[in-house]
Amino acid sequence: MAERTLCIIKPDAVERNLTGAVLKMVQESGLKVVGIKMLQMSEQQAGGFYAVHKARPFFEDLCRFMCSGPIVVAVLEADNAVKRYRDLMGATNPANAAEGTIRKAYAQNIERNSVHGSDSLENAAIEIAYFFSNLELVG
Ligand code: TYD
Repeated sequence: MAERTLCIIKPDAVERNLTGAVLKMVQESGLKVVGIKMLQMSEQQAGGFYAVHKARPFFEDLCRFMCSGPIVVAVLEADNAVKRYRDLMGATNPANAAEGTIRKAYAQNIERNSVHGSDSLENAAIEIAYFFSNLELVG
C-alpha cells in the first residue's frame, strides 16, 4: 500500500552541500518526492517537532543542532515508504550503520547524522502535517 513519510535533511548535510547526494539516494531507491522545501526552524519549532524526546538527555543539544542552520524537509511516497526509508537511512549512530545507507555515507556522529525519517505511519502523518499543508503536496 502506498504510504507517505517525512524526510529531513539535517543542518550538517545541508551545510556540506549534500542535499543533492541524499536526494539522489532517496530517488534511486524508488521513493518519490511529492513535496519539498528548505527552511530554518526556531528552537521552539525544533522542540515541538522532537517533543517525544523531551525527557531524554540529548534533547536540548538536539534542538540546538536542528535549528543551527537550514534544513530540507521532503515528503516521500512509495509502497511501504516508512520502512523503506528507515532502512535506507541506516542506524542512528553511523558507527553502526550498514554499507549503502545514507548515514554510513554521510553522517558525522550520532547527533550530526544527516537525516531524519518518521518511525511509524502514525508519526509520519503528524510530522508531515507539522511542515506541509495538503496544497504543498502533489499526486
Ligand atoms: P531516535 O529517534 O532515537 O533516532 P532516529 O533518528 O534514528 O529515529 O533519536 C532522534 C535523534 O536524536 C537522532 O537522530 C539523533 C539524536 N540522538 C542523539 O543526539 N543522541 C542519542 O543518544 C540518541 C539516541 C539520539
